[in-house]
Amino acid sequence: MKILVTGGCGYIGSHTCVQLINQGYEPIVIDNLCNSKEIVLDRIKEITGKKPKFYQGDIRDKALLNKIFKENTIDSVIHFAGLKAVGESVSKPLEYYDNNVYGSLSLFEAMRDANVKKIIFSSSATVYGTQPIVPYVETMETGEPTQPYGRSKLFIEKILQDLNIAENGWSITLLRYFNPVGAHPSGLMGEDPQGIPNNLMPYMTQVAIGQRESLAVFGDDYETIDGTCVRDYIHVMDLADGHLAALKYNQDHEGSHIFNLGSGKGNSVLEVISAFEDVFGKKLAWHYAPRRAGDLSAYWANADKAKKLLHWETKLSLHDMVKDSWNWQSQNPKGFI
Ligand code: NAD
Ligand code: WQD
Repeated sequence: MKILVTGGCGYIGSHTCVQLINQGYEPIVIDNLCNSKEIVLDRIKEITGKKPKFYQGDIRDKALLNKIFKENTIDSVIHFAGLKAVGESVSKPLEYYDNNVYGSLSLFEAMRDANVKKIIFSSSATVYGTQPIVPYVETMETGEPTQPYGRSKLFIEKILQDLNIAENGWSITLLRYFNPVGAHPSGLMGEDPQGIPNNLMPYMTQVAIGQRESLAVFGDDYETIDGTCVRDYIHVMDLADGHLAALKYNQDHEGSHIFNLGSGKGNSVLEVISAFEDVFGKKLAWHYAPRRAGDLSAYWANADKAKKLLHWETKLSLHDMVKDSWNWQSQNPKGFI
């Protein structure tokens, strides 16, 4: 069965391609490589024995999408393609809305034209906004994301829900990821941020490899167990498996569905550092810094719905996450080259 994977060269998309192939699916990738490298497709082949068919291009290119749907009998789409840097979205709102929202519209139109009406969409816990009620559960109203990136995710969710109301025959699954980290256990694939990493795990592993001096821990006075922020970290392999579970569910469930993909528990920044030091075998250089604007104190997922309906739950621990992140970083000090 052929699955169109938009953004399939990226961090989560590439790991999902591996699991798709492992379960007998045929991923077909479209990616404009704005935040990834084509070599990842060779790594997928090294791991699975199969290289996904690849179209280098942009989801805003409707003609290309039409061509892809014409040339391949696509069953479902997994839609990862998008820009994801929260801070950058504040300074480049038009670019973010154009890429994420207009790009998604272009994709949905091409799907409708091709009569492909099954889609899994990469949403984010950011759509819960700044609500202080934790854990986040799918029955909660969405909140007000405080930045264009988060709003773009919320808009796309709403567009898909409106489409489902307007037209019969769509199967739409919105997956709200919490904090994806980790890497393929082989060390052949992982997160490869361009420039200075925005996120905790890649920053930490770059400090450990000697590329950055010290990790700034943003804030020490949150109302949490140790004063640092708490997040629900999820191993990217568990997350990839979540997509497989969602794909199966989406096959025979018309309508629109929402699932949190998280572990259901939170860890503080200091707990992540401590887990990392256990694997690293040394102390990590870190220091306290002021709070980062926009950070919420603590949130994690209620992951019951995915467990009940998708028969999916996370299997890998925080130890596995830091071990595999470090394995990837230490084997590929400069990422994909
Ligand atoms: P990523 O940047 O590694 O992957 C996204 C891929 O999409 C990249 O390969 C990029 O080149 C491609 N792309 C971007 N715009 C495109 C366009 N217009 N046309 C074609 N290709 C395009 O990001 P990721 O971490 O793998 O995230 C995948 C999806 O999951 C994104 O939509 C992101 O917003 C969402 N998400 C990510 C996280 C996270 O923390 N990583 C959390 C929640 C949601
Ligand atoms: C995790 C914790 C920081 C870096 C982001 C997006 C969210 C979603 C997932 C896409 C926080 C602390 C971080 C550092 C630190 N993405 N930290 N020093 O902000 O929880 O979530 O990625 O949808 O929308 O906002 O992830 O990894 O940046 O931060 O102390 O150098 O680590 O304060 O508590 P975040 P993160």
